[in-house]
Amino acid sequence: MNNLLKVENLKQRFDLHSDFLDKIKFKNGKFSFVNKRVKAVNGVNFSIKKGEVFGLVGESGCGKSTTAKTIIKLYEPESGKIIFNGEDISNYNYKEMLPVRRNIQMIFQDPYASLNPRQRLQDIIMEPMLFHDIVSDRKEAYAKMLDIIEKVGLRREHAYRFPHQFSGGQRQRIGIARSLAVEPEFIIADEPVSALDVSIQAQILNILMDLKEEFHFSYLFIAHDLSVVKHISDRLGVMYLGFLVEKGNKEKIFSDPQHPYTKALFSAVPTIDGANLDEIIELEGQVPDPVNLPQGCCFHSRCPYSMPICEEERPELVEIEEDHMVACHLL
Ligand SMILES: Nc1ncnc2c1ncn2[C@@H]1O[C@H](COP(=O)(O)OP(=O)(O)O)[C@@H](O)[C@H]1O
Ligand SMILES: [Mg+2]
Repeated sequence: MNNLLKVENLKQRFDLHSDFLDKIKFKNGKFSFVNKRVKAVNGVNFSIKKGEVFGLVGESGCGKSTTAKTIIKLYEPESGKIIFNGEDISNYNYKEMLPVRRNIQMIFQDPYASLNPRQRLQDIIMEPMLFHDIVSDRKEAYAKMLDIIEKVGLRREHAYRFPHQFSGGQRQRIGIARSLAVEPEFIIADEPVSALDVSIQAQILNILMDLKEEFHFSYLFIAHDLSVVKHISDRLGVMYLGFLVEKGNKEKIFSDPQHPYTKALFSAVPTIDGANLDEIIELEGQVPDPVNLPQGCCFHSRCPYSMPICEEERPELVEIEEDHMVACHLL
């Protein structure tokens, strides 16, 4: 199978726009100028094959959304490469990105925020089809729109409604329908069910899985909760403070998690059958400030097994078995 997406050493930082006076520091009799920067993504590598679902998990604030938004270049990458369908899109400008944007669709946690409140459902779905010349005229767009909204479990008569007339679950169906409208190959779903009731979560996950079967999509599926990615993903990446600490085949990670942080995430999931945990790890303390990344391993300040080397040297991801990599000095 070919790689659809390859992300190489991707980094993303944000300047904190503080006051001019906050940026001036006086030290050793001299003034200097300091820029505070949030180091959100710190050299991430992964690839996603055609037809594959790659789950990206980690606590809130660890850099999942920033990774996703950098891949579709809502943010210019600070450094690193993004290769999509064999094309290096890292330096593509807006115009060069247009066909790529059509092919990579994003589904957000809060679809309401990205739906135009004054547009009816039918226009929300038809507009991108017409813009990207997926259809030749409005008549074709209309027929296709009806087909798509039925696929996501909405009804014909919903076509004339406005976003505020739908429930949260229905709005997420609209978000999915809108991405289907342009026939993408790759969907980035950024916590698509986190804001929904548990009963509705299952419905939305089922729709996403059914669509994958039908259209052979690949997904980057982002969640802060392992139980959500468990069923949906083929492979997994565990992220902490902008670093991938463990990645690989889902079955292998679920049956034998190796990184202490992954084990801690598993401990937090009450119903994990199959995970072979020698002991429960409860995390103490806070995630370090991404403005001042710790030296050494990003996790050492919270790791119950931290050794002196962990405070000195940053561990690289190493392959411990086929398609299972871990970044930890213990191994
Ligand atoms: N536009 C931004 N400007 C400044 N900091 C940001 C911005 N977006 C995200 N961050 C910071 O980057 C880090 C990663 O955020 P994010 O990617 O949203 O995490 P996640 O999606 O895993 O919850 C956080 O510390 C967050 O505060
Ligand atoms: Mg996020």
